[in-house]
Amino acid sequence: MCGIVGITGSREVAPMLIEGLRRLEYRGYDSAGIAIQQPGGLRVHKRQGKIKDLEVDLPWEEMQGICGIAHTRWATHGEPNRVNAHPHQFGPVALAHNGIIENFSSLKIQLEKKGHEFLSETDTEVLAHLIEDQYDGVLEAAVQRALKLVEGTYGIAVIHEAEPGKIVGARRGSPLVVGVGKGANYLASDVAAILGHTRQVIYLDDWEMVVITPDDVVTTNINNEAVAKEVEEITWDLDQIQKGGYPYYMIKEINEQPMTIHDAFRGRILPDSGDVKLGGLQLTDWELRNIRRIIILACGTSWHAGLVGEYLLEEYAQIPVEVEYASEFRYRSPIIDPGTICLTISQSGETIDTLEAMREAKRRGAKTIGITNVVGSTIARESECGVYIHAGPEIGVASTKAFTSQVTILTLLTILLGRRNNLSAEFGMRVLQELQRIPGKIQKMLDMSDDILRIAEVYKDHSNFLYLGRGPNFPIALEGALKLKEISYIHAEGYPAAEMKHGPIALIDPNMPVVVLCSRDGSYEKIKGNVQEVRARKGKIISVVTEGDEEIAALSDHVISIPETLDMLTPLVTVIPLQLLAYHIAVLRGEDVDQPRNLAKAVTVE
Ligand code: G6P
Repeated sequence: MCGIVGITGSREVAPMLIEGLRRLEYRGYDSAGIAIQQPGGLRVHKRQGKIKDLEVDLPWEEMQGICGIAHTRWATHGEPNRVNAHPHQFGPVALAHNGIIENFSSLKIQLEKKGHEFLSETDTEVLAHLIEDQYDGVLEAAVQRALKLVEGTYGIAVIHEAEPGKIVGARRGSPLVVGVGKGANYLASDVAAILGHTRQVIYLDDWEMVVITPDDVVTTNINNEAVAKEVEEITWDLDQIQKGGYPYYMIKEINEQPMTIHDAFRGRILPDSGDVKLGGLQLTDWELRNIRRIIILACGTSWHAGLVGEYLLEEYAQIPVEVEYASEFRYRSPIIDPGTICLTISQSGETIDTLEAMREAKRRGAKTIGITNVVGSTIARESECGVYIHAGPEIGVASTKAFTSQVTILTLLTILLGRRNNLSAEFGMRVLQELQRIPGKIQKMLDMSDDILRIAEVYKDHSNFLYLGRGPNFPIALEGALKLKEISYIHAEGYPAAEMKHGPIALIDPNMPVVVLCSRDGSYEKIKGNVQEVRARKGKIISVVTEGDEEIAALSDHVISIPETLDMLTPLVTVIPLQLLAYHIAVLRGEDVDQPRNLAKAVTVE
């Protein structure tokens, strides 16, 4: 995701800013830039691409100065290019921003009425203009006034040409840390960026601000009231920090899910009217109402998300859906009727089979909608319209947070289409209100990680696993099995629970762990029977049940309880313990879970 570095001191700052950006590269980015304060003005240099390119390009002679800010951008609003890169300068103000300004369109209109002209497509540029508009001689006061007009999230670093040596930082929802040095002070979105200079840091909380100069750090809140903050000592090394203190990116990403799911629905739901707005879809109400059939194209984990989408869209939006392996679709002669849309789901947006399947669908006249994570990726660019899942960079090869964000977007799409067809506002309201509680419920599951570790210890040396589920939990069974085989190399199969008796039941004996998803939903009564079938053959039952369920618990060897939620949202919760189980088993077996053998993060070859 995006990264911020700010430094004010007495030495040339450009090389230190570049070094700080390099330390943030692991977070993923698509463009970068720096802004330096100089007598009589600001000097900004930015570009698309890697830090090493920025470094080569930088007019070093012209970038001299002892106070500046820098940024790595991972595109959200607007494609990755030089104009959209940060810092954004407007007149005497330069700003680097992480987060999303949700009301940027209305702010922009107001500023345009005052004569402001905008160069980029970003929400951040609007904030730079707003701060300039509010400026009357004291930068922190202008920032405070501007932020009071803003809805959304931010971690920002701001400089003004008339206030040498001063950097103002503010935080709401996007991390910001102050590095306290000697004769120099630092600001960053991530300690990794400043660890080479100081280990003394102050973590800002939401609604707090800081003004740093070479010899001073002043913390306040957005109302300009002084806030006393503790200076903490960093004891971690760089590698640990980049992984947020976790041993692997995969577990970091699993733990990010309360936040990433929130980021997927933030600004897109209207809980009071039970409706959804997906700006990137660019379809009129008439077009939405006239979708006759949906084909979902995807591979791997994204294909599993597509299967969940099939259950949701057919059940609640009453639209026929087919989910296709992209690699199969592209070599068939698929029938595309008028009114067919193709949803292409891909975390990376670069998977070649998915891309080629989408191109084939387009050639055959389908309208194509991309659901991707990486902004500016090929699928995002080539689909006619789309929705970004906003999960942030996913580094672990086994996909986790992208899956739950994809399912969140498919849930939103279901409500959007359902409301144009048959769904009542009351139903939409109920789902969207509950969706807002899902991050908290997922956090509850994450807090049970040690309980799942104990189950992993019992089964880590088994050679086979079976995963069973029904309804929208069937794709979760597939996903649980995929996670396990991807990173621990244990053979695992996911099956629709009732289908077990047509084959896999032959494998069940006391050595076969069977993970059964039995949350209390529409399939509950049926799946109870399937659990009995496993038990009768002495298979080891690890059940995922709704809190308080004693019936299935009595039949199980191990029980994982999930908080109660709506049927429609259950897959978002049931997948979490399966991700954790796969992770713990792989780690106990000594595997490198981030780089499993033979697998790639983005498969760009057929
Ligand atoms: C690879 C990855 C999987 C991913 C699949 C599809 O196989 O290892 O984790 O699910 O590609 O990737 P996409 O980027 O298209 O979602």
